[in-house]
Amino acid sequence: MPDSAVPYTTNNAGVPVPSDEHSLTVGRDGPILLHDHYLIEKMAQFNRERVPERVVHAKGSGAYGVFEVSEDVSRWTKAKLFQPGRRTEMLARFSTVAGEQGSPDTWRDPRGFALKFYTEDGNYDLVGNNTPVFFVRDTIKFQDFIRSQKRRPDNGLRDHDMQWDFWTLSPESAHQVTWLMGDRGIPKSYRHMNGYGSHTYMWINADGERFWVKYHFKTDQGVDFLTQEDADRLAGSDPDLHRQDLYDAIERGEHPSWTLYVQVMPFEAAAGYRFNPFDLTKVWPHGDHPLVKVGRMTLNRNPEDFFVHIEQAAFEPSNLVPGISVSPDKMLLGRIFSYPDTHRYRIGPNYAQLPPNRAHVPVHSYAKDGPMRFDPSRANAPYAPNSYGGPAAAADRFDDPSAGWRTEGEMVREAYGLHPEDDDWGQAGTMVREVLDAAARDRLVSNIVGHLLAGVSDPVLERAVQYWRNVDKALGDRVAAGVRKA
Ligand code: NDP
Ligand code: HEM
Repeated sequence: MPDSAVPYTTNNAGVPVPSDEHSLTVGRDGPILLHDHYLIEKMAQFNRERVPERVVHAKGSGAYGVFEVSEDVSRWTKAKLFQPGRRTEMLARFSTVAGEQGSPDTWRDPRGFALKFYTEDGNYDLVGNNTPVFFVRDTIKFQDFIRSQKRRPDNGLRDHDMQWDFWTLSPESAHQVTWLMGDRGIPKSYRHMNGYGSHTYMWINADGERFWVKYHFKTDQGVDFLTQEDADRLAGSDPDLHRQDLYDAIERGEHPSWTLYVQVMPFEAAAGYRFNPFDLTKVWPHGDHPLVKVGRMTLNRNPEDFFVHIEQAAFEPSNLVPGISVSPDKMLLGRIFSYPDTHRYRIGPNYAQLPPNRAHVPVHSYAKDGPMRFDPSRANAPYAPNSYGGPAAAADRFDDPSAGWRTEGEMVREAYGLHPEDDDWGQAGTMVREVLDAAARDRLVSNIVGHLLAGVSDPVLERAVQYWRNVDKALGDRVAAGVRKA
């Protein structure tokens, strides 16, 4: 090494390379030689630098942090990460949904709010959004919904007509679309938005009692948004605005934090509740189920390598720990399958060994082999049960015999509607009339009209006006007038 202060370049096997700049040729102008192994390694490595981008939520940013419990919620859950005084290392990734990896951060879209907690009982992932509701309530419609938001097969363009066609044919989308067209559809930064588990989950306490819960992470930076005009401008001048903002804030030592609250519903109350409490297009009104404080999450460390820690991060709602389980939400149950499946495709079957995904406790699984496996199997015998001291399931220590719920009936393909206030429009209307102030309502009208005028035509346009009249008659009339005037 000529200058001992500078490390010397090696190839991937650690062997010093002869040149960073010149390939091996026959004479100065001669042909390149195939046995210039280092040149070939560089080209081949480069050709394989990408993994497929996430099919949704492709553009994102993330950071490591810590979750600290400040209250006592042990009467509802025995999950170790939620026990009083507990401190748990975690990873967060925020994202837009429909845009590709290079898309601007300021497009109108929900934002992903994915969390991974490295708990004593293995990884717990809470893969939520910055909105408490969603566009559809059945997993079978998710793929169609996403395709309507992405690009057309013929010309590769995004298409507002396609988006509104799907929304207006899917009235259950109204609550989420109202939210999306309002101020919160474009947050000022990832630091200035709330996160929601959105689904209803089950909590189980040490006595085996079950409760239904919803998670609310409220930003301690305050909710703030961008106007459509500012967002359009920034999409051109500063497309990575939100990634930059999060990274810079953490580098400056301004560690963003969120306070976690939960809403808790007694297990037995679900059947008689006025809405289906497992319908992802609905919130539980705070008046029915007040927020209960749990603790605080703080992001305090940027990843040292974006690809390794953020691109390869694999969140999965199926990562549940003792004390936390699923609910009958048909979206959540579909997601339990979907995420590990997509990770196996996107980053390979051994994705759980990668740095952001590794549990911080010993893994005693019987998984073995497969591409890029580097964790040796620690089982004494590669099968269970075995007579050689291999791991054995400890139902007595970890199982939740009471998790789950009683159900019976014919096999059906039917929608919700068993609760008196199950409908598609009510909560969206409440938001418009009772939550938004006059200025926010004006911006809502302007955002909707602007969106519709960007390529939506009859019969979809006519249906869109009716859609907003169903949410709120006065709002629909204003949308109709705005479209007519233009
Ligand atoms: P509340 O008056 O108790 O809650 C209204 C909530 O709306 C606020 O707490 C705030 O939630 C949220 N909010 C405020 N401004 C906006 C905005 N511009 N866009 C979207 N959300 C906003 O009433 P209810 O609990 O009875 O809910 C009434 C309506 O509020 C619901 O139909 C729903 O549309 C909306 N909402 C309700 C939430 C809930 O979990 N109950 C959560 C979010 C919205 P936050 O503090 O979480 O930001
Ligand atoms: C990402 C499927 C609904 C939040 C993804 C990915 C898939 C997927 C395949 C890509 C994952 C990856 O490649 O790493 C589904 C299906 C849904 C659904 C099938 C409905 C049935 C939802 C809902 C939420 C949500 C309701 C929020 C409440 C997220 C987030 C990510 C994501 C935050 C990005 C995770 C990350 O940062 O890596 N989803 N999704 N999804 N989804 Fe969903």
